[in-house]
Amino acid sequence: MRKARFILVGALMLLTAGACKPLDDTMVAIFGRSMRDQRKFDPYENTVAPPTGGVAFSSGNEADALGEFNVGRPEMLAEPLFTQADMQPIGTGGPIVQSLENPFERGDSAALARGEEIYMRVCWTCHAENGVGAQAPIAANHPTVAAYNLAGPQVAGYTDQYIYGMITVGRGLMPPWAHQIRPIDRWAVVTYVRQLQTEAQGDQ
Ligand code: HEC
Repeated sequence: MRKARFILVGALMLLTAGACKPLDDTMVAIFGRSMRDQRKFDPYENTVAPPTGGVAFSSGNEADALGEFNVGRPEMLAEPLFTQADMQPIGTGGPIVQSLENPFERGDSAALARGEEIYMRVCWTCHAENGVGAQAPIAANHPTVAAYNLAGPQVAGYTDQYIYGMITVGRGLMPPWAHQIRPIDRWAVVTYVRQLQTEAQGDQ
């Protein structure tokens, strides 16, 4: 009995270790579907943006200051909604984007700390630890995709509002983060990106 079980386990291990596909195909034949057929993100696929009018978690979580949580704050979004269409012209964005207000002074230490935390969680895979895109972890896997340089003079010339807008609505392969990073934290990331630019200048 023990031996039989041993052989069965051994056979299963061989089947699974040797090739996943035949086992998977057998499961499909028996159950009609496989765990492979599930909703998941493919590499570099954009996250699904919430439907128009949908209330994302971050929008019910407005805060006036870092570290505050105001879930369900009645006045909801304190700033105007905008879309990718409002991001023209490049560098400043349209009137709505231009009207946004950055709550942080340049180099605010609390904003830098929070911004770094989020940057290293969300942005660094594509834009690199120091903001120089060519050194980003993703660059090796996607040599054809321009690894965007956030630390260089081009993005340094953009307004804070434009960078904030970019984090909010994204563009092309740059995913929108509005539904995952709340506004106060997005401004903290902007503050941190500014610091990366200053550091990059020092290197030159
Ligand atoms: C999945 C990879 C990816 C992640 C994660 C990502 N970006 Fe990007 N980002 C891109 C790509 C690709 C572009 C170039 C977009 C284009 O022009 O098509 C870009 C462009 C930008 C630009 C320049 C926009 C312009 O108009 O020149 C800024 C600013 C930016 N990203 C900031 C950020 C910040 C801040 C984060 C973290 C919150 C972030 N990105 C996360 C891929 C990413």
